Amino acid sequence: MTASKDAVQAPLLRVENLGVLLQNEGRVVRVVDAVSFRLKQGETLGIVGESGCGKTLLCRSLLGLLPGCAAVAPDAKAFFDGKDLFRLSESSLNKVRAAGIAMIFQDPLSSLNPVMTIGRQICEPLVHHLGMTARKARSRAVELLHSVGVSGAEQRVDHYPHQMSGGMRQRVAIAIALSCGPKLLIADEPTTALDVTVQAAILDLLMRVQAGSKTGMILVTHDLRVAATRTHEVAVMYAGRIVERISAGALFTHMRVPYTRALVDAIPKMDRPPHAPLHAIEGRPPGPAGAIYGCAFAPRCDRAIEKCRARTPPMRSDRSGRHWYACWNPIQEPAP
Ligand SMILES: Nc1ncnc2c1ncn2[C@@H]1O[C@H](COP(=O)(O)OP(=O)(O)OP(=O)(O)O)[C@@H](O)[C@H]1O
Ligand SMILES: [Mg+2]
Repeated sequence: MTASKDAVQAPLLRVENLGVLLQNEGRVVRVVDAVSFRLKQGETLGIVGESGCGKTLLCRSLLGLLPGCAAVAPDAKAFFDGKDLFRLSESSLNKVRAAGIAMIFQDPLSSLNPVMTIGRQICEPLVHHLGMTARKARSRAVELLHSVGVSGAEQRVDHYPHQMSGGMRQRVAIAIALSCGPKLLIADEPTTALDVTVQAAILDLLMRVQAGSKTGMILVTHDLRVAATRTHEVAVMYAGRIVERISAGALFTHMRVPYTRALVDAIPKMDRPPHAPLHAIEGRPPGPAGAIYGCAFAPRCDRAIEKCRARTPPMRSDRSGRHWYACWNPIQEPAP
């Protein structure tokens, strides 16, 4: 019966043909282009790709949090819980931001208010959006801090962000994000600023939260190992486009797109002999300078053929319909 249940379960988030336009030195450039994906309740989509490929603008666009110089392309669609996010009024979008979709940023200092106690910052949405009394909100704030692993929560609630470590601040940011019970969490590199052991603890926490509440999650990460082990599906972005969508378990073994393979090859390996050179990807991704002809990765790709420089490869799927890739000369599938 699981298959039929799957078939009827509408996605929590359906993004179609998402583009983000950016004003750059007097010109309009598409920094996110033709992005489509679906996310089910309780599932995590990982987004990986080199710096500048559009991961953050993609996430921010879903919440109407783009910088002033950027805008969602007119033909883009994003349905969350049945609502078209790009056609909501500001007040409806505020409701979605309050209780539907929550975002966690890379640097919790930039999302926390330095002159407000963390207790007040957690209580504010509880009072404003859930209508709790100040007293009830405070005890809920203590509970939330406790649930995200902040020890001494009763005292911590009166502390300011600068009195806490980076890891603790990120836990606070997660507590705020979870305060109104979001259906979707967008975590944009939530652990990049933290040291390795704290990173693992924060990722464990996010996964625990998600498993307990069936929250959908978009997890942006630079770390392919994190994507492979902490998500269900991975979207690989290059120059504003998703070039491959693959189940996390198949990421390292069944990728079809040369760029994905280059990212995988660039991971430092424990079994490499000491002092062996790391495989960096030659060249740089194109900047937001203007139109790209053909596949944006072609100039750096060892599998590029003539067609790659002339026409942008469309996304197509393999027989399963679950593995999508955009490449004119894909890596052959390994023999079964
Ligand atoms: N506020 C801004 N003003 C001008 N250009 C911007 C702004 N924000 C992003 N960009 C440009 O848009 C493109 C996509 O940026 P984005 O921040 O989404 O990349 P990213 O994949 O999140 O990178 P990173 O991994 O470094 O966080 C980049 O070329 C970037 O320079
Ligand atoms: Mg970013």
